[in-house]
Amino acid sequence: MPNKCAIFDLDGVLVDTAKYHYLAWKELAEKLGFEFTLEHNEMLKGVSRMTSLDILLEVGHMKDAFTEEEKVKMATEKNNRYVEYISNIDESEILDGALPLLQELKQKGIKIALGSASKNAQIILKNVGLEKYFDVIVDGNSVSKAKPDPEVFTLGAKTLGIPYEECVVFEDSQAGLEAAKIVGMLAVGVGQEKDLTNADVVYSSLKDFKIEQYF
Ligand code: BG6
Ligand code: MG
Repeated sequence: MPNKCAIFDLDGVLVDTAKYHYLAWKELAEKLGFEFTLEHNEMLKGVSRMTSLDILLEVGHMKDAFTEEEKVKMATEKNNRYVEYISNIDESEILDGALPLLQELKQKGIKIALGSASKNAQIILKNVGLEKYFDVIVDGNSVSKAKPDPEVFTLGAKTLGIPYEECVVFEDSQAGLEAAKIVGMLAVGVGQEKDLTNADVVYSSLKDFKIEQYF
């Protein structure tokens, strides 16, 4: 059965914003007095804002050091910093191969969905000019359960009326790949094979993706 729907994660798949998440979290860690490395940051990919904070605090051995209220304050501070970074981004942040792939899918009549954990997805899509490619946008504001729960992908497929087995998910996170596989969607990893062991297939960049093999 040919695939009828492509579901894209945003940060680290379509746009190069994962680095800004990292910078903002790193600044918070430094304020708290510990180092937060790129390797630590891998654990945060695809993960919701509050869970990311919990993981970061665990890295700093500060897991139980703060009240819920203090944690909300820290997450807000990180987000304000992140929003500063992304408020002026433009199409130069679109990752290699993303635009031609979206255009080709559109030409073929394939439905396109966004499946992002981010509550900032709309502003990013608008700033880089990718909004118009999406038939449905599901983001951190529309779901109650975070990846690896598959809600962020199933909601898009349901809205478009497409069976899960006819959807292909593009992801740069283990949590997202796991979510796709739970509901029988094809899980395409974008990044390094060593980081993406949950994927059905991995491409180091979307520009190498062989569209004719999947759609
Ligand atoms: C995901 C990122 O896309 O969105 C995570 O990979 C991030 O790192 C999550 O924590 C939530 O994003 P935001 O913008 O709502 O804090
Ligand atoms: Mg991502």
